Amino acid sequence: MAATLIDGKAVAAGLRLRIAEGVAGLAAAGHVPGLAVVLVGEDPASQVYVRSKARQTVEVGMRSIEHRLDAATPEAELLALVCRLNDDPQVDGILVQLPLPAHIDSARVIEAIDPAKDVDGFHPMNAGRLATGTGGLVPCTPLGSLMLLKTVRPDLAGLEAVVVGRSNIVGKPMAQLLIAESCTVTVAHSRTRDLPAVARRADILVAAVGRPQMVKADWVKPGAIVIDVGINRILAPELGEGKTRLVGDVDTEAAAAVAGAITPVPGGVGPMTIACLLANTLTAACARRGLRTPLA
Ligand code: GUN
Repeated sequence: MAATLIDGKAVAAGLRLRIAEGVAGLAAAGHVPGLAVVLVGEDPASQVYVRSKARQTVEVGMRSIEHRLDAATPEAELLALVCRLNDDPQVDGILVQLPLPAHIDSARVIEAIDPAKDVDGFHPMNAGRLATGTGGLVPCTPLGSLMLLKTVRPDLAGLEAVVVGRSNIVGKPMAQLLIAESCTVTVAHSRTRDLPAVARRADILVAAVGRPQMVKADWVKPGAIVIDVGINRILAPELGEGKTRLVGDVDTEAAAAVAGAITPVPGGVGPMTIACLLANTLTAACARRGLRTPLA
């Protein structure tokens, strides 16, 4: 394996330490930042994420506020809860776990969140701020991915970046962040012609498609930095009957023979997402009090 493995677990742990220091500073001034997480329904993966978020929130010294609602909760009831959290001075960040049940319009719920408390960075106001370079809260997974990139290449200016995937949660904001870093950015997707050839142009290749091990070694330019955003559970008969394991969107082992640096799955981008959620909560808590974030 030639590539440097980018240790997202270690980078996330370092970030959480800095967050904890910032939280302690705010707490000493009389304010403990609060993060409200809303889970609708019993999706097992969402339950795991929400538990993990709550635990890490408390570990950095913040207040965790959890709201678990029945899967049949009417949209109006969820919107009313979001309104109450918007008005609650103890709440600095609001996260409504996605996906929501089919009868609820996710866009309407996201737009109901106060943009100043939108620690997911999904509100159109924050998306617009990112696109126009005017501040705002940035989606956690792209923010964490950028931090990992910078651990191996602090100055990204002039590099060719290819983002595979055009979701509002990862692909589009990732492209905006890379533009702000003065990269030349291509956003590729399921309708892109000759995707392997496009990917091979990349000095920075970000895979965010949600397809297990889709990016092969011959898609990777020698020496490229590969950021694998995918978290896919696949059957792993080699581990025993019915066993599963997590893989990314990249065929990591093969790609690592070509890449200069690569994020593993698990242990790459994944741990950064929650750490960045906590970072955004601290940033929001500071901004609501007219303070600069200590993380800048
Ligand atoms: N579901 C999976 N990832 C996320 C995330 O980052 N934020 C929210 N709100 N829901 C998710």
